[in-house]
Amino acid sequence: MMRFFGKLHPVARHYADYPVPLRTIRPIGADQAAAAHDALRDPANIAQLGQKEAAYPSAVCYYRPPFLTDIFRAVGDHIRRFLDFDIVETYYYARLYGLGDQLKIHTDRGSCFVSVSLCFGYEYSDMFPAGSAWPIGVLEDHASAAPRETLFRMQPGDGFLYPGCSVPHWRDVFLGTRCGQAFFHWVPADPARFAEFYGDPNLKG
Ligand SMILES: [Fe+2]
Repeated sequence: MMRFFGKLHPVARHYADYPVPLRTIRPIGADQAAAAHDALRDPANIAQLGQKEAAYPSAVCYYRPPFLTDIFRAVGDHIRRFLDFDIVETYYYARLYGLGDQLKIHTDRGSCFVSVSLCFGYEYSDMFPAGSAWPIGVLEDHASAAPRETLFRMQPGDGFLYPGCSVPHWRDVFLGTRCGQAFFHWVPADPARFAEFYGDPNLKG
């Protein structure tokens, strides 16, 4: 069982008023996922828009890549059916992970109150069976005596909706060659509590 000892962002207390369900979603089709995966792998995009991050030595990272704007809007429209409050965009982000990358267990900052992680595709060597997936682990009720650990094994086009500021999540070491993934984030349309995160003007996560 994974353990989490970190601190939650102060906005986590607002989930009582704005609950975000933890659930799998299917907001885009396989064709859209494949096209997005190709965009992440496009050498011209990598050269012009890609960034390196010390925490993910094998990854190419994209902050607000313009080629994912339409998918961001579509995912936002898709998840509104699962929420009983309106949402405002903060930011989105994508990574093309490589061999050996991992995501340490953490919770997110305030801009990620409503979060979706969306899988675009994988490349694995021939040693792996077709349909191999890199699981994302989540820990519900992490502060209780009986935390519940769930692994999501997403295929291209699959995503999951989650309350990023309260549910610890992680990924163990990636053993494939490439994994294209995007992260989309919103906050409740409640300026009194969340206006500071609207548009995520100067932070990235
Ligand atoms: Fe996160």
